[in-house]
Formats: sequence, structure tokens, C-alpha cells
Amino acid sequence: MKFSAFGERFTRSTGTLQLMEDLGEALAGGRDVAMLGGGNPAHIPEVQAFLLDRMQRICERPAEFARLVGDYDPPRGEPRFIAALAQLLRAEYGWDIGPENIALTAGSQSAFFQLFNMLAGPCADGTFRRILLPVTPEYIGYADVGLADGVFTARRPAIESFPDGTFKYHVDFDHLDVGPDIGAICVSRPTNPTGNVLSDDEVNQLHALARARDIPLIIDNAYGKPFPNIIFSDVSMPWSEHVILSMSLSKLGLPGARTGIIVARPEIASALAAMNAVLSLSQGSFGPAVTLDLISSGEVLRLSNNVIRPYYERKVRATEGILRTALRGTEFRIHRAEGAIFLWVWFPGLPIPSEELYQRLKSRGVVVLSGHHFFPGLEGEWAHRHECLRISYAMPEAMVVRGVEAIGEEVRRAIREG
Ligand SMILES: Cc1ncc(COP(=O)(O)O)c(C=O)c1O
Repeated sequence: MKFSAFGERFTRSTGTLQLMEDLGEALAGGRDVAMLGGGNPAHIPEVQAFLLDRMQRICERPAEFARLVGDYDPPRGEPRFIAALAQLLRAEYGWDIGPENIALTAGSQSAFFQLFNMLAGPCADGTFRRILLPVTPEYIGYADVGLADGVFTARRPAIESFPDGTFKYHVDFDHLDVGPDIGAICVSRPTNPTGNVLSDDEVNQLHALARARDIPLIIDNAYGKPFPNIIFSDVSMPWSEHVILSMSLSKLGLPGARTGIIVARPEIASALAAMNAVLSLSQGSFGPAVTLDLISSGEVLRLSNNVIRPYYERKVRATEGILRTALRGTEFRIHRAEGAIFLWVWFPGLPIPSEELYQRLKSRGVVVLSGHHFFPGLEGEWAHRHECLRISYAMPEAMVVRGVEAIGEEVRRAIREG
């Protein structure tokens, strides 16, 4: 069968496809796989108990159940959920926003497909606009969503090293030109894959650049504030008509609900709602229904601050300790774990490419992600791209320990073989 250019573009082998297939295989059971590759959130007992209780209550009320499964929501998303969220963000941050600033999407991944292609690519005036990723490594999921080639342009980071064996990526403002071809700037904060959290100062500078050029600054807040709040330091949330804030229910514990949330100026939120109608008629009702009470009561803040964040913070510190022990004597650096659910490890001078390390680990039943996937839009060769691994620490501890010990053994083997 002959596919169109669109068909070929969206069926080719991509890092995202590899990641999701590895994840599906591992979670489908059968093989005893240590799945440290995916972005699946942990099943936190207190969160699970809340969701189960809420589901049971919906099932016990026939009218609520009938509405959940039997009615289409409007293309913008469930109005009560949107109103409750606008209220929560107003109360929490003092932002002057209302329901007109919010649109839901089928997961935030799908919001990025809509946003990037809305703001970049060939334009009616004959120009070609791009999405600027001012710092890489950056989220793998952006890499392949462009309808045209060359939608992304990215920059290398500045790297700061610390005496404790950690390092941190920064935006290299000295080499950050925002030319007339840039349609939007995008950062994930906290960053998937590195666990980096751009400082307030860096975000303010990016915000100022976006304002000066009258383009949006897209902040992918999938792990950020106010929920699920997997950020281990105190940072501010910028807001203006030039910010597009992407949020999600996934890392709160509901990836199965496929609920993404975009907070933006009304023109952008309405554009997304219009696209939703064309692409999928309406948004899934499940996520908003299960979390409406959580949002409208503000309980989501307690759950995020007192349960989810401490859960991941404990886990990341423990995993970092295990990793340091497993890698003792080898050349490695760990990115400062400031948020999200990953550790990013750099092996300077690694004798094999990280892709080969990934394959060797996978053949032993340990799935991580090779770092080379996380440089979408970055031009030019750079050894660093092939020297890093992303390790998810969200899975149960025994699995994490087994996986991390295998990483230590394979890195040693690679070094021995030289
Ligand atoms: C930084 C980041 N953005 C967006 C997404 C997409 O999440 P979802 O489509 O489940 O909302 C993910 C998922 O892992 C992510 O890590």
C-alpha cells in the first residue's frame, strides 16, 4: 500500500514509538523486565485510594455515571472542571484568568501536536516559522510532531559542574538569538529527561525575549506546579498573555485518562477548542469527572504537596544513592535532580554510544532510554549526545535496584572492552 507523505511521516520509527512500545511490552507482563524507560508515574497508594473512591462514588450515582459514559463534552472540555481549574489558578497565583483561558486536549502530547503546528511550519505569508528549544536535552515527545521538516531549532546548553559529581544545564543566553523565523519558544520545566528546573531568572529572561518578539513562551509544566508538583525547590510560575502553560493529569496518577490542559490567552484556547472539534469532536470526560472534586476543593494541592512531591523526593534521593554505589570507580556525572521522575546520567568518554548501552541493557531485560533521542532540532555533531542515559525512578524499588545495578555492570563492561 502506498502511504501519503503524512502517512509516511507519522508511521516511521521514532524514539517516542520505541519508548511507548518498550513500556507497553514491559507493563503487559510476561517477561520480567526492569522498566526504567517510560514516563509512567508511580502508583502511589494514597492517590490510588482517592481515585478509586471517586470512581466508586460515580458508579453508585446512576445519573452521574450516565453523564460520564453517555454524553459528549464540549470541544473545549468539561465546563465545570475548567471553571474550577481557573478558580484554583486565580486563587493560588493571583492570575487574571477565567474559563476562556483554558482548553483541554487528549493528553498534553496531543496539545503539543496542535500548538507546534499552529505556531510553526509554512505560513500564509510565505514564511516558515520554527519552534525554538532554547536548551537541550529536551522532551523526546516534541521531536516528531511537526507536520513539516525543520519545525524545531534547538540550542546546546551551558553546563555547570559541581564538586559532588553532579552537573546542571543552563540556557546559554550568549548564543540565544531569537530571529524573525521563530514562532514560539518552548521549554519543559521540570525538564524531561534531565530533572532540570530552569531558574526563575532563566524563565524571566525567556519570557522577556518572547514578549519582545510578540511570540508565545510555551512552558510544559507536566511535572510542575500546582499539580503534581514534582519540583524539589521553590520556583515561581510566570504568567502573561505571552505564556502558554501546558499541564496534565497524567503525572498526578491518571495517564490513562489522557487529559491535557492548556492555559493561554483566549485566542489560543479557542483555537485549540476549534481544532479539538475537528480532530476528535470532544475531549474524554473521564479525567475531568474523576478529578473535579479534587480541583474544586483545592485538595489537589494537599495531595501534590504532602503526598506526591515527598514520595518522589524520597525515591529520587534513594535511587541516586544506589546509582552512585553501582557506578563507583567509573567516570559519571548525575544531573542535579530538581524535579520530574528521571535521573539523567552522563558518562563522559563512554567507549560505546548510549544507544548501544541501551541495546545491551534491553537484552538483559532492563529498559532505560538512550540520551541521543533528547536533542530534537539540534544541529551538528556533539559527543555529549551519545554519552547519556535517562533512568526513570518511578517504578517499585526492587525493579529500580535491579536495573541500576545492571547499568553499573554494563558501563564497567563497556569500559573494560574499551
Ligand atoms: C515533559 C512532558 N510533556 C508532556 C508529556 C505528555 O504527557 P501526557 O500526554 O500524558 O499529558 C510528557 C509525558 O511523559 C512529558 O514528560
